[in-house]
Amino acid sequence: MRIRRQDYHDIERIIEFDFVRATEVAALNSLPWLGRGEKEKADAAACDALRGMFDLMNICGEVVIGEGIKDDAPGIFKGEQLGTWVPGSPQFDIALDPIDGTTNISKGAPNSISCIAAASPEEGVKVALRDIPSFYMMKLSYGPRVVQHMQITGIDTIKLESPIEEILLLVGQALNKRVQDVVVTMLDRPRHKEIVAEIRKVGASLRMISDGDIAAAMAPSIADSGIDLYFGIGGSPEAVLAAAGIKCLGGDMQCMMWPRDEKERKSLIGEGHEADLGRVFFADDLANGKNIIFCATGISDSALLRGVKSTGPTATTYSILMRAKSRTVRFIRASHDLQNKTIRLRSDNREHKI
Ligand code: FBP
Repeated sequence: MRIRRQDYHDIERIIEFDFVRATEVAALNSLPWLGRGEKEKADAAACDALRGMFDLMNICGEVVIGEGIKDDAPGIFKGEQLGTWVPGSPQFDIALDPIDGTTNISKGAPNSISCIAAASPEEGVKVALRDIPSFYMMKLSYGPRVVQHMQITGIDTIKLESPIEEILLLVGQALNKRVQDVVVTMLDRPRHKEIVAEIRKVGASLRMISDGDIAAAMAPSIADSGIDLYFGIGGSPEAVLAAAGIKCLGGDMQCMMWPRDEKERKSLIGEGHEADLGRVFFADDLANGKNIIFCATGISDSALLRGVKSTGPTATTYSILMRAKSRTVRFIRASHDLQNKTIRLRSDNREHKI
């Protein structure tokens, strides 16, 4: 006789594919805005499709980390409820970025993804996805081979606070590469001027990106991405999303809050965050526990994922779906038949052709 109702604790395993459907539709629905110079419309289209997909999911989802407060973008913000909230449905804390790299989309440039991290309640885990109060963090991320090297040598050799020269030499040693073959990626920003000069002085190879540092921070954890290290200052919500993905991939990340100015530093201290200002957060501190799902779909090409390819009758999406518990990494290539495919939008609660 079959069990009528399972007392099942591994709920992410059942629900995870619906999360990737949500990033797929966000990517597909924002595609018409690629290169159109309208980043807010692209963001609104992604949010509408994401919310529409969540409306079909029997979960009690609460956004614990939404989009950053940049540019007053039309986003999904902290506190929003997602899912049907049918009583008894599984609970999820959700961190999401419907589009990381909105400016890239508006220019038709590479490096945009849609991504979600979700965590179900877990014994011993108070806060699975940590909402960092500073606007930016200083971030350093590296892949599983570097982590394993540190475990074998028995010392935490790579430290965020160390001079970049030291970090590059250690990464080179861990990967058995000459320092000039170590590839670093970083956001192209004036605030990185000095660090860029130091990296060039050491002779490592640099790949600057204009936007989209979730994919960039995850790239060193992807074997064939061609990136060995991510370094630099970027958004704090993006750090937590990247940490969730990196953790599932077996890499690691070190981050520290980076107040933009004295005013922000004082306000962080005033809000009681002084002790955390000098703290180094590892991936596990930002995305804690094992009940974590991470998924992302490429919108335009990045070191993590290919972007949506539209061939007229079909559109192909490239996604990654992972769970921290099992560390299964799925790359999902989906072919969407545009004659039949519809996307449910929250704005009118109806299905739409793309
Ligand atoms: P948006 O898609 O919200 O514009 O964010 C893009 C992004 O490049 C992030 O990936 C990155 O963390 C952040 O902006 C960097 O912020 P800034 O553009 O202020 O340097």
